[in-house]
Amino acid sequence: MKKMPIVAGNWKMNKLPSEVISFVDEVTKLVLDIRSVSVIFAPPFTGLFEMNVKPPFYAAAQNCHWEESGAFTGEISIPMIKDCGVDYVIVGHSERRHVFGETDEWINNKVRGLLSYGLNPILCIGETIDERKSGETALVLKDQLEKGFDSIDNIRDCIIAYEPVWAIGTGVTATIEQVQIAHTVIREIIGKNYGIGNDVHILYGGSVNSDNAKDLIQTKGVDGFLIGGASLDANSFASVIRTVEEVQENRK
Ligand code: PGA
Repeated sequence: MKKMPIVAGNWKMNKLPSEVISFVDEVTKLVLDIRSVSVIFAPPFTGLFEMNVKPPFYAAAQNCHWEESGAFTGEISIPMIKDCGVDYVIVGHSERRHVFGETDEWINNKVRGLLSYGLNPILCIGETIDERKSGETALVLKDQLEKGFDSIDNIRDCIIAYEPVWAIGTGVTATIEQVQIAHTVIREIIGKNYGIGNDVHILYGGSVNSDNAKDLIQTKGVDGFLIGGASLDANSFASVIRTVEEVQENRK
């Protein structure tokens, strides 16, 4: 793997603004010597003001609205997020799609908006258990990719997170074979549509933890992780980062 792997922690609706600094400090101290992994913290919006990280540590928002400003009660715009020093924004997470009814069209608006402001979208895609059982996984991934990236010529600044819905927060991880197949499918689609399959990071997400991280990061086509539950504990998150760092260092 030529590109630097990414380990991103999606805190979802967890942690108070007053807990952000000490938590981020704790994690960064545990992995201060890393050289081969980029680490992204994605706190709730209320935590973004407190984030003050330097590479290889970065901040991400978990969502955004695509309009610059206006009468959109409860929404946060991309310039507001950018003003907090954020580099990445998670878009189309399955909880946004399935709990809050986000459509592919909104997701595409967000991806386009983010790129126009020079931020990096982390586009989440993934099939439900019913779609997997009926053999539709590849079709769903293709559909979500093509709709999410509609009218975008260059996806070089985008990150894709493959997150099978049935593996998120369930403790059930996709098997190595399932992950490898899905990542290959995604890479083929983006290679065919955008001609840059190998340059784009494809992360795996869904019950990643310190026990399964080593096998998963060694899976062909996996360029890092998007982690929910295990990113909330400093030791677990640091342990995954260290595992990815060790595997990456051994590749050199
Ligand atoms: P999980 O969440 O690691 O708790 O399964 C992953 C995600 O939602 O991004």
